[in-house]
Amino acid sequence: MAASDNTEEGANWENLSHVASKVLVPGVTDEQVTDFYNKWANGGYDQTLLDAASRKDYNALNVLKQALQDLYPEEDSRDTAVVLDVGAGTGLSGQVMLDLGFKVLDGLDPSAEMLKVAEEKRVYRHTYTCYLTGEPSQIPADAYDCLTMVGVLGHGCLQCDAFEEMCRIVKPGGYIVNCMRRAYLQEVPDYIQNWEPLKERLEREGRWRVVKMDPYPDHFIGHEGLLMVLQVLQ
Ligand SMILES: C[S@@+](CC[C@H](N)C(=O)[O-])C[C@H]1O[C@@H](n2cnc3c(N)ncnc32)[C@H](O)[C@@H]1O
Repeated sequence: MAASDNTEEGANWENLSHVASKVLVPGVTDEQVTDFYNKWANGGYDQTLLDAASRKDYNALNVLKQALQDLYPEEDSRDTAVVLDVGAGTGLSGQVMLDLGFKVLDGLDPSAEMLKVAEEKRVYRHTYTCYLTGEPSQIPADAYDCLTMVGVLGHGCLQCDAFEEMCRIVKPGGYIVNCMRRAYLQEVPDYIQNWEPLKERLEREGRWRVVKMDPYPDHFIGHEGLLMVLQVLQ
């Protein structure tokens, strides 16, 4: 459905798209982003994303699904893998993992209202209401086999230094799977300045290896996506 549709659903999407385009812009603070998601949680976030997915305008969840099937081809291995979904939101990404047979999922998100929706759906074993940053979190070292992110990088969102914290909390041999809008790497000042040097330094130091860096179409409404799969080595 085009944003100009006159239906109630179209008008809803047009409004949300308009609000998002005003809020998720250069210079937005993390508090403003969290305030935006707190409001969106109760203002049709799931409906907007699921409508877009049914129009094939939102491909990120399919890309996450395929990436996890590739990394965990045996269904048995999904039973026991301990996964942290960073930027878990209302649990749409977590639900994809539950449907694939993953059983031990935790969710982390600074938006209490987004997590409240996820908690109602009982997607996650445990939720952390906080930002993931470059500072050590309350999560113990080597706690997770896999860490996922869908749509968590962008203006005012997760910063590059959080990848160092991810390397601490993911076990050696475990994976970081990130589905993001590709253009953000060239648009968000922190990513322009810090992503490539960080990626290369962690490779050089033997702390991770790049398994995939694959573009994909229609991450969200016409924006190309990028699938990153990184294997934590130490
Ligand atoms: C587009 S939503 C994606 C939610 C969910 N992964 C999904 O598939 O629907 C992005 C989420 O990232 C969260 N977020 C933003 N900055 C974050 C950070 N530094 N650490 C963790 N989550 C963050 C937001 O609060 C928001 O809920």
